[in-house]
Amino acid sequence: MIPTRADFPPGFLFGTATSAYQIEGAAQGGAGPCHWDSFAATPGNVAHGATGARACDHLTRYEADLDLVAGAGFDIYRFSTSWPRVLPEGAGAPNAAGLDFYDRLVDATLARGLKPALTLYHWDLPSALADLGGWANRDTALRLADFAALMAGRLGDRVWSWATVNEPWCAGWLAHFEGGHAPGLRDIRATARAMHHLALGHGLSLAALRASGVGEIGIVLNFEPAFPAEPGEEARAASLRYDAVFNRFFLGGVTRGHYPEPALEGLGPHLPRGWQADMAAISAPIDWLGVNYYTVKRIAHAPGPWPNWAERPGPGRKTDMGWEIAPMALPDLLRWISGSHTGDLPLYVTENGMAAPDAIVMGEDGPEIRDEDRIAYLSSHLAAAREAIAGGVPLKGYIIWSLLDNFEWAFGYDRRFGLVHVDFESLQRTPKASYHALRRMLEDAAP
Ligand code: NOJ
Repeated sequence: MIPTRADFPPGFLFGTATSAYQIEGAAQGGAGPCHWDSFAATPGNVAHGATGARACDHLTRYEADLDLVAGAGFDIYRFSTSWPRVLPEGAGAPNAAGLDFYDRLVDATLARGLKPALTLYHWDLPSALADLGGWANRDTALRLADFAALMAGRLGDRVWSWATVNEPWCAGWLAHFEGGHAPGLRDIRATARAMHHLALGHGLSLAALRASGVGEIGIVLNFEPAFPAEPGEEARAASLRYDAVFNRFFLGGVTRGHYPEPALEGLGPHLPRGWQADMAAISAPIDWLGVNYYTVKRIAHAPGPWPNWAERPGPGRKTDMGWEIAPMALPDLLRWISGSHTGDLPLYVTENGMAAPDAIVMGEDGPEIRDEDRIAYLSSHLAAAREAIAGGVPLKGYIIWSLLDNFEWAFGYDRRFGLVHVDFESLQRTPKASYHALRRMLEDAAP
């Protein structure tokens, strides 16, 4: 059974999320190229050679999309601003049409009674900056702070909350060590530098936002609780290394001004000289922390150089991404984050959701998408969020990924996370059964 709004404390907020590159249509409206355009244009990187050029064409359909957010009764709309749409060269002269779009988007969000939760950087790095080394170059962190100041100057009077960076682990490790995201590198030196510069980009943008006078500033981190896949000291140590890189690198940097030792063992020698001097900026106080939670990992020891870990399939059911469904790990995760790192700082689940095949079937009243698995996934994670709150965790909201089926990065349009189905030929939107279930759940009086 899906919990109801009344099962949560008064004032608890519900939302749904998207990101610019995944929905807007990157080729339209005068945006400059970004490193995802060239990554996607390189054969073998993205399923079926898909790109974000058109995506969901949200750029021209945003009003109707926001009607869907409001129509379900959500409180928050979480979206990101495309850096190359606003600054086609990454710096310098802004694209007026880009700034105007976000102006209209924020106004249209507010006009529907929704709280606009803006993420500055959700992975669409302008190609002009990628050409200079991207996140491996310290200068990119400074340019992100300039972008932050520009956006705060334009939207600061209306945006409800600001996130500096979304999932820096993906933009750092996955993109530079595993080669799975743009720029597709497999290089430990670039990885260490990118991870540190992403953390610095957060810290410098935070300072720029504070200087602009905006409030409610945070960062969105992804977490995957890691468990040893087999008995023995080697697997235990491997899962601790994984945990340090995945769960504690950015959390430790941002909340304590320290990177964890098992991560430094491998990354330390490749960090830029004098990195320690940046830790004060990186760990300046934030107003909230965003927690993206989808799954857990089972980790074994692997031969070879650091980090010598290997992922093993877990016993639980898997989503269409192959991710093990593990709602029971969420309360412990939230308890651990607040208990050991963030204390009373408000936490938000800024992403949770599942990919499923979601076929359209003909119902009595027209096309239907019966995504019962997604309803079960969301119900169990909402129940887990309640358990965390009952245990004293200062969890203030829960945001579902995603409003729409969209460009799922290296998986192209093959993985559907939306509460609303998108036909990528006609771009027709069809709310799924999960959308209707949430609408009923949220129907009780809004806070
Ligand atoms: C995390 C990311 O923020 C988002 O862009 C992505 O689509 C979802 N997780 C699902 O993988």
